[in-house]
Amino acid sequence: MAETITITDNRTGESIEVPLVDGTVDAKAWRGLLPGIWFDDPSFSATSGADSAITFLDGDAGLLRYRGYPIEQLAGSTSFLEVAHLLVRGELPNGPQLKAWKSEISEAAPIHENFHKRILEGFRDDAHAMGVLVSSIAAMSTFWPDSKNIEDPDQRRYEIVRLIAKMPTVAASAYRRSEGLPYVLPDPDLDYTSNFLAMMFKTGDAPYVVDPILRDAMDMLFVLHADHEQNCSTTTARVVGSAHADPYVTVSAAASALYGPRHGGANEAVLRMLTQIGKYENVDAFMDGVKAGDQKLMGFGHRVYKNYDPRARIVKDTAHRVFDVTGTNPLLDIALKLEEVALADPYFIDRKLYPNVDFYSGLIYQSMGFPVEMFTVLFTIGRTPGWLAHWDEMLTQNSRIARPRQRYTGPADRDVPTIDER
Ligand code: SDX
Repeated sequence: MAETITITDNRTGESIEVPLVDGTVDAKAWRGLLPGIWFDDPSFSATSGADSAITFLDGDAGLLRYRGYPIEQLAGSTSFLEVAHLLVRGELPNGPQLKAWKSEISEAAPIHENFHKRILEGFRDDAHAMGVLVSSIAAMSTFWPDSKNIEDPDQRRYEIVRLIAKMPTVAASAYRRSEGLPYVLPDPDLDYTSNFLAMMFKTGDAPYVVDPILRDAMDMLFVLHADHEQNCSTTTARVVGSAHADPYVTVSAAASALYGPRHGGANEAVLRMLTQIGKYENVDAFMDGVKAGDQKLMGFGHRVYKNYDPRARIVKDTAHRVFDVTGTNPLLDIALKLEEVALADPYFIDRKLYPNVDFYSGLIYQSMGFPVEMFTVLFTIGRTPGWLAHWDEMLTQNSRIARPRQRYTGPADRDVPTIDER
């Protein structure tokens, strides 16, 4: 059977046969038959906007693979820096490559002193950490104007290292500033995730003692968040990058999209929801409100996964290891009850609403000592390699500037009235 479809324009009787290629129909194929006719798909639910070799998702089967490797294998057996290398350079590093990669990242981790003094100190004391981070990433663009040479692959490679390396430093500094704590400089003797935890939580002059279970959990959470195909923030990165903007404002735009509560901001929204529910006995009434349309069950639902998000399962398992160290989060029972009710209720079953990556992650972050305003910042650190891999791939493909069409619904042609006629 031919892997094609036939499109017929009934206005003219003309038909064309269009090949189905890798699950897509090439838009250029019907332009000749249907000039000026656009497919109306406002949230791109049925639109492929890119060819990409980075991440594969199967939402119905609940599959997630980075460069072909299943997330279940990567999580727990490879470090975040190995996965970052896999995403941005295409393969897991061997021993010498990993050593060189770690050294590149470690050397690029410090930020300019003026960043602390003039950028971070410019924010209000109660500024949300994501607002500080999004602004700070964009501000990096002003420190390194050479980053505008986006057509130079070596320049892109260097900026990718700089952004992956500096994200934890800026993130931790944003937290320290909001707490009125002195900044902690990166320690080249610590691994990437231990360094981040030290920059976050070190007090006094004593070396920061990293709990290996918490470090491993944090590193795995970065792995789980590292990429996710053409999600809202990655699409933002590809769109902004297609204008040939520099990687700092591109990543800042992506982080801005992630900040939204429908996207990466959901992990913070889940904690606020669990706190608002307050106790186990209130779950049923809350769920009645969800079904009445009064509020969303944050951390549930997904555009692609119509099955359990494979990451959510791993996060849930990780939570128990963290709680063995930190003590159980009292909100866990409410979360487990919400999941139990939702997985048995036709409202959620019919809409294929399952826990996503954001449902349990906040419980872990809170138990590790992160304030809720830092939750999406942690998502940003994890997702930075993914955004940069897609940015680099899009430029390597010499993609055209992103510029969708629209369906115009406004007034027809009319003359401008004088002020007295309005
Ligand atoms: C992430 O895309 C990615 O890959 C994202 C991400 C990544 O790694 O980059 O996976 C990370 O963003 C995960 C999602 C985090 N967001 C949340 O947890 C927020 C709560 N979820 C919803 O806002 C929603 O599920 C979305 C935004 C995630 C998906 O929205 P869609 O695909 O546009 O679905 P929809 O709004 O069309 O919902 C279909 C139906 C509707 O009901 P009906 O109108 O048919 O009666 O399901 C209902 C919705 O009202 N619904 C929910 C719900 N999510 C959808 N009802 C209650 N609670 C929810 N959470």
